[in-house]
Amino acid sequence: MSSWPALGGPSTKLRFSTDLFVDAPAKPGRDGVTMDLLSTLPASNETLEPGAVLLRCFARNDAALIADIGRIAAAAPFRHMITPGGFAMSVAMTNCGQFGWITDRKGYRYSAVDPDSGKPWPAMPDAFRDLAARAADTAGFAGFAPDSCLINRYVAGARMSLHQDKDEADFAVPIVSVSLGLPATFLWGGAKRNDKPRRFRLETGDVVVWGGPARLNFHGVDPVTAGDEACRYNLTFRKAA
Ligand code: SIN
Ligand code: FE2
Repeated sequence: MSSWPALGGPSTKLRFSTDLFVDAPAKPGRDGVTMDLLSTLPASNETLEPGAVLLRCFARNDAALIADIGRIAAAAPFRHMITPGGFAMSVAMTNCGQFGWITDRKGYRYSAVDPDSGKPWPAMPDAFRDLAARAADTAGFAGFAPDSCLINRYVAGARMSLHQDKDEADFAVPIVSVSLGLPATFLWGGAKRNDKPRRFRLETGDVVVWGGPARLNFHGVDPVTAGDEACRYNLTFRKAA
């Protein structure tokens, strides 16, 4: 990790209504034919604070990423993990890569095997690895090489309460978080749990990167609202070991 970005300047907040694409032959979205149009438009980056950047519409192949999630989940199914306090999480989770994040009554940790099957997690697709590295690079963190991708699935009503990502070995390495499917409201808090979070709407293809002075900031997701897609997915790329 070398530096964090001075990207953005005034927040531009480009947003594309899917209404623009109602006549498209394929399902409207950010993939396929519409991507040719979007790829000619400038990227829109918002600096949340030093070390934290929101890259709007950065993942332009959302349909292909969701197809990869389907293949991963066929080998390592989504499950509602249990917190150390004994509660089932509303978000269903699986993982790919060398290490997967898990929780059970014994605590939060990374595991090289899926505890449900005893087998290694599915390999991280090259497209995932490349996307994460490009996003980190764009945010000012060159050389990001994740060994873990947590895949969160939110159906309507599922949420993630404010937390820090702190089960990793080296906090000098950033986090890359990709939103796919249904939109969600992302809570971006501060270094302390009771810092009032700001709220950002995340749509499919939006990517948030945080590291440097923002690496341990609290963050979470408001309950997801039902919509056109079945669910929201989030890919969280990390270097666990
Ligand atoms: C997480 O922090 O684990 C998930 C964040 C998100 O779903 O956007
Ligand atoms: Fe997190």
